[in-house]
Amino acid sequence: MTKWHQADRVLIAPSILSANFSKLAAEIQEVEQAGCDLIHVDVMDGHFVPNLTIGPVVVSAVRQSTKLPLDVHLMIDDPGQYVEEFRKAGADWLTIHVEIKGDVAGTLKKIRQLGAKPGISLRPKTNLSALKPYLSLVDLVLVMTVEPGFGGQAFMPDMLAKVKELKKGYKGHISVDGGIAAATIRQARKAGANLFVAGSAIFGATDRKKQIDELRRLAG
Ligand code: DX5
Ligand code: ZN
Repeated sequence: MTKWHQADRVLIAPSILSANFSKLAAEIQEVEQAGCDLIHVDVMDGHFVPNLTIGPVVVSAVRQSTKLPLDVHLMIDDPGQYVEEFRKAGADWLTIHVEIKGDVAGTLKKIRQLGAKPGISLRPKTNLSALKPYLSLVDLVLVMTVEPGFGGQAFMPDMLAKVKELKKGYKGHISVDGGIAAATIRQARKAGANLFVAGSAIFGATDRKKQIDELRRLAG
């Protein structure tokens, strides 16, 4: 069994949104060698969130830069139209948002059929109960701890109530994304999260290995 199947193990996923894109392969290799567990890729379409980032072409370049699983977070209005392309580009985990207008359950099933791990995420303003119909279809719930769209925002501690509630019954991976750093990871871990996405805290550090080790120690 590979390590990321164990939903209680602490997993660190640097978000490349805060990496230096002029040397993306080197940035990814640095965090891989520093011992992170997955690479988090933020896909934004300028509609679901007011920012435009990465498409399948870049995911495929990321795929060629690392052996680590790619945790692809789709902040797009119509993920159903694109999951196949992202899977072909090398996504191992594909997380969609519950707030999309399209067919959430159908898209999650499609992700699994494609051989990737389906995940579901929710914005800070969305109630946890919105996820209920989908929990049996996913391997990962990603609780947004900032408003999706940009890196470097302040962690929203109120979101940990959702993590705690989820942890009572949900047995899959619980991820937190946004504002995860040395000052916040411990409380997120205590609440029940096991997969920690961190962009600015890792790529903004001069010594990335030291920062990953520190995050892991604090979550341990
Ligand atoms: C925000 C993204 C995050 C972002 C986190 O919409 O989903 O993955 O990169 O960045 P930090 O860790 O800087 O808050
Ligand atoms: Zn993300």
